[in-house]
Amino acid sequence: MKHLLEISQLPADTILKLAQRALAFKDLRADYPRFSGARLANLFYENSTRTRISFELAADHLSIPVINFVQGLSSENKGELIEDTVRTLAAMGINLFVIRHSENRMQEALAKRLSDEEDIHIINAGDGTHAHPSQALLDLMTILEVKGSLSGLKIAIVGNLRHSRVANSLQCLFESLGLEQLYLVAPEIWWPQNHHFGKLTTSLREGIEDADVVIALRVQKERLSEDSSLDLATYHQNYAISLDSLAIAKKDAMVMHPGPVNRGIEIDSAVVDGPQSFILQQVRNGVFMRMAMIEYLLS
Ligand code: CP
Repeated sequence: MKHLLEISQLPADTILKLAQRALAFKDLRADYPRFSGARLANLFYENSTRTRISFELAADHLSIPVINFVQGLSSENKGELIEDTVRTLAAMGINLFVIRHSENRMQEALAKRLSDEEDIHIINAGDGTHAHPSQALLDLMTILEVKGSLSGLKIAIVGNLRHSRVANSLQCLFESLGLEQLYLVAPEIWWPQNHHFGKLTTSLREGIEDADVVIALRVQKERLSEDSSLDLATYHQNYAISLDSLAIAKKDAMVMHPGPVNRGIEIDSAVVDGPQSFILQQVRNGVFMRMAMIEYLLS
């Protein structure tokens, strides 16, 4: 495979193999391969802490030098196109491009424009509200690490579905793996524009009652427009993952969140820092999943 742009490109057995490989890296059951000759550039046109730094650490574990491209200091400010930036970096020997962009499907369009370049691999690190495949894969890894399999699980995704690229990628992933019970919970104003898998509901109770996994989504204040904004205090009252609302999920329910977290809006601090929270485990797993993704593309 040349590029990794969205979950729908990956067959179910490849998704599971990536999760198993990432767990093997984490548990030191697999040696870290060395990719001498490879070089990775992080091109982030949107803010990031987890994704950018975990790709950097993943590359480091695989002996791949990393260049962090700083858009504000780049020649794109003199009018250079993103595809010319990529070609320029490729001419210097960089072959892996981890790209985050605010425009939906920007990486896909870029991959098409660069289709004549044999040795350029693009990894989508998040595009607009469309897809965030590495986040969905590391979420799966974390669930499998704790629960063993998806069989029989009820999973609820709660929050700003309308603007969530994570929720989109998770829908694709859970559909591909045949998850029996996926609930998507949000006030109607935040229902997804492209819903393709899972039961949509406005009822937090219906979504998280007896759930095995509760995934809270960030309220993306920067993406709320007039037709999608709502009172955050009312949202918190009706949809926040709090100790009270979590009590209706299973006693051993995992709480997850892709981060960054808005404490006191979509999730309370008592839950973020509580015994059911796997949020930092997700972050840790992100390094190993991104190692598995890079290895998959280069092998
Ligand atoms: N989950 C996630 O994409 O976090 P960052 O924006 O910090 O990379």
